[in-house]
Amino acid sequence: MGRLAGRRAIVTGAASGIGRATAELFAAEGAQVLAVDRPDADLAFDHPAIAPLGQDIGEDAAPETIVGKAVAEFGGLDILYNNAGISHGAPVADTTDEAFDRLVAINLRAGFRLSRAATPHLAASGHGRLIFTASIMARHTDNGLVAYSASKAGVVGMMRTFALELGRHAVTSNAILPGAIATGMTAASFQREEVTAVWAKKAALKRLGQPLDIARAALFLASDDGGFVTGQALGVDGGLMLRV
Ligand SMILES: NC(=O)c1ccc[n+]([C@@H]2O[C@H](COP(=O)([O-])OP(=O)(O)OC[C@H]3O[C@@H](n4cnc5c(N)ncnc54)[C@H](O)[C@@H]3O)[C@@H](O)[C@H]2O)c1
Repeated sequence: MGRLAGRRAIVTGAASGIGRATAELFAAEGAQVLAVDRPDADLAFDHPAIAPLGQDIGEDAAPETIVGKAVAEFGGLDILYNNAGISHGAPVADTTDEAFDRLVAINLRAGFRLSRAATPHLAASGHGRLIFTASIMARHTDNGLVAYSASKAGVVGMMRTFALELGRHAVTSNAILPGAIATGMTAASFQREEVTAVWAKKAALKRLGQPLDIARAALFLASDDGGFVTGQALGVDGGLMLRV
């Protein structure tokens, strides 16, 4: 029997990278999964337990549409994985109000609105799981990451408040902080061998992360194994941040 047998999940950003690997792993472990990504994204999956939904998470009606579809399709909701995100690298002086607002709207606000809409259903399940993809850049930063770091630090703060308020309903809330992972978001950088080599060398485990490395952490948090873990920011970075 799978570790998520009978569970009903939403995964955002499911067309690519971490989200795709997680949707596939959750389904392989017995969950029904609503795989959400932008309308123009490739949401074709081989697994029959994965239902695709093309929906921009930043739109006003997104929470109602996404949670409504999961509940209509599956009869309830046990797991919400807020994973979709965007990056924007620019020095502070070149970061426009619009760029900053857009990044915060997708990486932080959209996850808040979706989680708020999902809360009654997660509480009703008796073992709800709220999971966010933050980043090691929630704790650290780099040149050009003013909006990205702010949004991911915000995710961690928000995650803790959900954990505190929802614990009485047996809902856990946690964030995963990935390190350098080979996904769509990082493809342009990691196509260059010299860039890959630098990041791999920095990590204690001497390699880049793969989407499945993060999906396995999400599975732990989503499954009964993670039932007493809440309010945590879990670094999954191969030891990237152990030293300066
Ligand atoms: N790759 C890394 O090294 C790394 C490191 C730390 C954190 N992260 C975080 O991991 C998460 C997943 O990213 P990834 O690395 O798998 O990148 P990715 O680009 O492969 O996947 C992100 C997915 O999110 C979707 N998405 C973006 N905006 C959306 C929107 N408005 N509505 C619906 N879907 C939207 C994209 O279409 C894409 O399919 C992100 O939150 C990212 O910030 C990634």
